[in-house]
Amino acid sequence: MSMDDPCAFFREQTILLTGGTGGLGGCLLYKLTMKLDVRKIYAVVRGSTEAAKSQWKETMPEHIENMLATKKIELVLGDITEQGFGIEESVLREMAGSVTVIIHAAANINWLSTMPLKETIGNNCLPVLHLAQVAATFEKLTKFVFVSTAYANSFLPDGIVEEKIYPRGNAERHLTQILKEGRVSEGVNRGFASPYTFAKHLAEQLLLSRNPSLPILIVRPTAIGPAISEPYPYYSRRSSCPLSRYIEKYMSAPDSGIFHVSPLHHAGTTIFDEIPVDIASNLILLHVMHGTQGIVHAGAESYVLWTLARVHQDIVAHFPYVPGSQKGPSFRYVSDKSIEQGKYANFWKMMGADWHFLNTASKRFVSVEGPLSISLGGHDATKFMLERTRLISEDIRRRRASQISTKL
Ligand SMILES: NC(=O)c1ccc[n+]([C@@H]2O[C@H](COP(=O)([O-])OP(=O)(O)OC[C@H]3O[C@@H](n4cnc5c(N)ncnc54)[C@H](OP(=O)(O)O)[C@@H]3O)[C@@H](O)[C@H]2O)c1
Repeated sequence: MSMDDPCAFFREQTILLTGGTGGLGGCLLYKLTMKLDVRKIYAVVRGSTEAAKSQWKETMPEHIENMLATKKIELVLGDITEQGFGIEESVLREMAGSVTVIIHAAANINWLSTMPLKETIGNNCLPVLHLAQVAATFEKLTKFVFVSTAYANSFLPDGIVEEKIYPRGNAERHLTQILKEGRVSEGVNRGFASPYTFAKHLAEQLLLSRNPSLPILIVRPTAIGPAISEPYPYYSRRSSCPLSRYIEKYMSAPDSGIFHVSPLHHAGTTIFDEIPVDIASNLILLHVMHGTQGIVHAGAESYVLWTLARVHQDIVAHFPYVPGSQKGPSFRYVSDKSIEQGKYANFWKMMGADWHFLNTASKRFVSVEGPLSISLGGHDATKFMLERTRLISEDIRRRRASQISTKL
């Protein structure tokens, strides 16, 4: 089979996908069914198949019917927090004899969540470990993909972050303690951007150390942004785009606009690392196709490097519409950490940090053409960001208007 022909490769693949109703999983489903002629996808969805379909109707209203009409998607009811994902025995047996690629993209990414640590681990660490046990019985498996996050290493100081494990103590011991006592020893999870990122940190290490003979690929996206073109421009699941949420929050209720930066970045030159969901999807599928093992980042180095100042001055400042507020946009970048940051910088810790995520493993794909191309062609990133921000501001107005009319 030619490695230049993604359709020929994916035509022979049967994929088990979790998280297919999510922002990333939806895009992967679209690519696999509509662009790559995949043989079959078992898409694990929770609740009911009707709930999954109505989620897709919201995010991909003009595509989902055609995707389902390919008859390549088999919806499998399951819940990643349950033993065996709560999937029926007969379906598990069928998958064990046919699945060639597993992509585990389901997660609970809610940074606002007040879930106890044990539950966060139950959502974002234990499922991939259980799935790996199940995968060990899959006869034809050639790739096991775990979608992690670049912020799995958010305890690191500012600077370069490589595509490797940065261990922090004994992951097995930490997990045992959490499951027994619901907590970890003081300091172990200090510095992580959120409990969710700590859970992914443990998951990566345990997955690799417990399963030396599984063909594992860990993909760490940075912040995922709306699609530049597929399934359609600006496609996203509203709750899953951190930068869009930040822009939305800031426009609705601005904070002090103060960001902590290293002394080098007083002008706001810290990179805000974001990757469009369709580029992230293409990278995942390219690495699957080319048999990459180990850890890869999927971030702005494979797209466009935006600085915080550019996001603020060129984008947010173009849309000073802030409903119900007298205050226009203003931003300050300070290295004096005794000055309090704004609440949004505190919340999205990646905005007040200065990591440089290397995308070394994906460099070889820059000139790939065809359905998995990551080339930007005529894409104008500034125009795209402006329109994205305009759409967000329109959405704010619409929501406000409907709230007002409901009240009336
Ligand atoms: N969004 C980002 O900026 C970002 C950045 C770095 C890494 N990631 C990683 O990328 C992956 C995909 O994230 P995303 O942005 O697509 O998130 P998302 O839009 O929130 O999607 C999450 C998916 O997981 C499913 N899910 C959650 N809990 C489940 C459960 N108990 N059982 C079955 N399915 C469950 C959701 O199903 P429902 O539709 O039923 O809720 C949904 O399909 C995740 O692993 C995430 O950690 C995301």
